[in-house]
Amino acid sequence: MSTAWTSRYAARTKGLKSSTIRELLKLTQNPEVISFGGGLPANDVFPTERFKEACQRVLEQNLSQALQYGETEGYKPLREMIARHGTRYGINAQTENVLITTGSQQALDLIGKLLINAGDRILVEAPTYLGALQAFGVYGADYVSVPCDENGLRTDLLEPTLRSGPKFMYVLPNFQNPGGTTLTTERRSELVLLANKYGTPIVDDDPYGQLRYEGEHLPLLVLLDRVNMPRDSGYTLGNVIYLSSFSKTLSPGLRLGWIVAPREVIDKLVQLKQGADLHTSTFAQVVAYEVARENFLDEHVKKLRIVYRERRDIMLDALAQYFPPETTWTRPKGGLFLWVTLPQGMEATELLAEALKQNVAFVPGDSFYAPNGPTQDGSRHLRLNFSHALPAEIREGIRRLSVAIKKQLVASHS
Ligand SMILES: Cc1ncc(COP(=O)(O)O)c(C=O)c1O
Repeated sequence: MSTAWTSRYAARTKGLKSSTIRELLKLTQNPEVISFGGGLPANDVFPTERFKEACQRVLEQNLSQALQYGETEGYKPLREMIARHGTRYGINAQTENVLITTGSQQALDLIGKLLINAGDRILVEAPTYLGALQAFGVYGADYVSVPCDENGLRTDLLEPTLRSGPKFMYVLPNFQNPGGTTLTTERRSELVLLANKYGTPIVDDDPYGQLRYEGEHLPLLVLLDRVNMPRDSGYTLGNVIYLSSFSKTLSPGLRLGWIVAPREVIDKLVQLKQGADLHTSTFAQVVAYEVARENFLDEHVKKLRIVYRERRDIMLDALAQYFPPETTWTRPKGGLFLWVTLPQGMEATELLAEALKQNVAFVPGDSFYAPNGPTQDGSRHLRLNFSHALPAEIREGIRRLSVAIKKQLVASHS
């Protein structure tokens, strides 16, 4: 029904749909449901004592600043900390290259606002992060998708797509959401070389990079980009814009993320962010800084790696124990998700209806593919989060899900 308001909605709102994840999260409010749906960190590992101490210190020593408006770029000590931390991974950024955002979700929105004209082609992975598709979609992005396999983006399939001149590519090299895959070092080098060859800038979204449970940290695209461009030795950040977040390492409720980009890009993003929210909450930034300082964040991340590695292993064991042999799944080296492929003929959305009857939830793979994507589609896939549920719940949830799968299998054969 058209009302005075609905008839006046801007054209850009036309394609907007409510996200499956959000709708699903509503269903999982029921305490009986074990949810592998959202990308939620574990409640039981939030560093609550450290937050209390940090808030106390802010209340006693720094309250006026924390309550006041701040610079759009973000709280300087926090930006300095992020820049310092980045140098460990070869990011080589100065404080001026760092913009604090209201979660990295806002970073994606600002990048869309900065770069996308309606009809611009954006190269994305298939599957990719749903929130990026939502953020870029509002600006009228057209997507070109390149498939992933168990080693991340298929860089061998990239060139024809790059030849068609996408505006930029959006990639998730570390512990991809939703696939849980990690881009190999060889593919990272190939990606950066091809990006240079075709002059296609890269947006590297990396909220999970710190959450590695096995193996060595692989070089960031920013680093490879610099190494590949020795002629620009003074040049710290070229073709790559790097995004990260405190959501998975400290708390998503803080809503704190950041963008590392060349100075001229940061200056433009600052103008756009002023129109969006003036700046990210000063209080949240000051508290996050007080929590993270003196190496606390590094120590906390070590703890998270142990807890999440254990939960990943419990989920992998339970999958091997309960799931029918026709089902396969990824074995992520980090992050929060794994990706299941159902037997031929099964549909993840139909399975979800049955799973909810068994009081277990997940996100069907379809949600993670750009519209007009590649021939490969998500209907036989599901994303499972292993960080949020407790170990006993993970085992029980996988058992329930296996009951739902077996029922669907019988139904599809009858
Ligand atoms: C790949 C990716 N990018 C961005 C975000 C948004 O995170 P934030 O909480 O920092 O806004 C998420 C959240 O799950 C994510 O998985």
